[in-house]
Amino acid sequence: MAILDILHYPDPRLRTLAKPVATVDDGIRQLVKDMFETMYAAPGIGLAATQVDVHQRVLVLDVSEGRSQPLCLINPVIVAAEGSEQMEEGCLSVPDVFEAVERAERVVVHALDEKGNAIKVTAEGLLAVCIQHEIDHLDGRLFVDRLSALKRSRIRKKFDKQQRQVV
Ligand code: NI
Repeated sequence: MAILDILHYPDPRLRTLAKPVATVDDGIRQLVKDMFETMYAAPGIGLAATQVDVHQRVLVLDVSEGRSQPLCLINPVIVAAEGSEQMEEGCLSVPDVFEAVERAERVVVHALDEKGNAIKVTAEGLLAVCIQHEIDHLDGRLFVDRLSALKRSRIRKKFDKQQRQVV
């Protein structure tokens, strides 16, 4: 197992559209293990492969308090969504930024698990929000893209300044 490097906004690689996984093989299973380790170490409640610079449609999530409900979704597709809610979101790729984002309240997702079996997940609340946030990553989208232009430009300036300071 290995802890992977997480890309940070505004890294352009975070804008890559991830490709579907053709076969769930040992290479994918190793990626899933490393992603869980990376997510738990961060610590975070969700991680998309895009964030570790692997552009395949793989997510790991665990929204439980005790980190006891690991969920891996490969090639996830939202097949139904209803309701809407606002929740404060953060992202391992956008450190120290928390903003309210509006998303569907309940979603039904079709995916493959790490054994390659087809699964169906019905989620609401935090898990539903987290799944939508992580699928956005696979499509090259970040939660800051869903904020107002004013908030977005403020966040962008903050990260541009940080980059200048570390160079
Ligand atoms: Ni994120």
